[in-house]
Amino acid sequence: MINKEQVISKTIKSFIEYFDSEPEFTCAYPGRVNLIGEHLDYNKGMSISCGINRWIAVSVSNRKDNKIIVRSENLKSEIIFNLELKDKPIELWHKYVFGSLNIFASHYQLKKGLNIIINGNVPIGSGLSSSAALEVALLSSYFNLFNIEIDKLELAKLCQKIEHEYLLIDSGLLDQFSSIYAKSNYYTLINFEDLSYSYIENNIKGTSLLVINSMVKRELANSKYIERVEECRKGFKIINQNKLDKISESDLRNIESHPVLKKRFLHILNEYRRVYQMKDCIINNNVIDAGKILIESHNSLKQDYEVSCNEINFLIDVSMESQAWYGGRIMGGGFGGSTVNLVNTKSIEEYIDLVDRSYKNEFDIDLEFYLV
Ligand code: GLA
Repeated sequence: MINKEQVISKTIKSFIEYFDSEPEFTCAYPGRVNLIGEHLDYNKGMSISCGINRWIAVSVSNRKDNKIIVRSENLKSEIIFNLELKDKPIELWHKYVFGSLNIFASHYQLKKGLNIIINGNVPIGSGLSSSAALEVALLSSYFNLFNIEIDKLELAKLCQKIEHEYLLIDSGLLDQFSSIYAKSNYYTLINFEDLSYSYIENNIKGTSLLVINSMVKRELANSKYIERVEECRKGFKIINQNKLDKISESDLRNIESHPVLKKRFLHILNEYRRVYQMKDCIINNNVIDAGKILIESHNSLKQDYEVSCNEINFLIDVSMESQAWYGGRIMGGGFGGSTVNLVNTKSIEEYIDLVDRSYKNEFDIDLEFYLV
């Protein structure tokens, strides 16, 4: 595995090869794993996440003409925008760049064009938030290139704006926040009510955090995600309470006649409680209970929040057969994507072998494993 400095130097090298000049600024931001607190960010709850050992880097410099030339080293593809940024792009990665440029242009009027190289090793579409890492790296590189100070929280919010306005996904702040505030060997406990955070040192010993990519991508994942966001909005209105930690048993009776909304709220309320429990487990090196909390969370995401799918449920079920597995769950937006798992480091190879073979037998799909 290559480290952050190597990702950065590879990106600078690609820039020099492609543009025949040195970049003026380069930065890299990590993908993320969300350990607990799923679908709580847009509900003003909490989560415990961490940055991972994979990054997206961006190198940038000024041009003398009005072209903005952007090359993705990973996709071996390029796009050229003009300074007016008029024509909305169609391809997905173009939308991220277009959104970032537009949002930056509302802070600083670009007078000349830019050369940009994007490169990294966060697998795309794997549930590790390569898109958030990309947004953060892009915007951060522009602010730095023009020596404009930007605070971390504002940067996270601007990146979220790219998702809202240019990808039309009403996502929360989890992914961008986790990438920007990531600190090696610490989890970040984020409180989405007031956007405060604190670091929790990772005291869990002898255990690996393993992400398994089911390789399932659902066409409908975005619209289903938006459906959950709207269901929760509606639920809060009916309950007539806008703070998650203030919702009482009697408040919940207000949504008794909306069985679907009630299930969604059961998930978010129980998940909120699990965040506190997980925090204690990390501090006290209690991997057994941490594993149980992940399994509980998975069942809640499967039955109450209904964001899981067959393939992911299979991954969790088959993991139960392994002594090395403490627990795991579906991670991220849902409807496919990845699982996050706590696995005994000593027996990780056996675990991977079991899951890999069983999944191949059942679905004829090769899994991807990321030790993060
Ligand atoms: C996606 C979104 C995040 C968050 C998670 C679910 O990753 O981008 O904002 O809502 O799903 O926890």
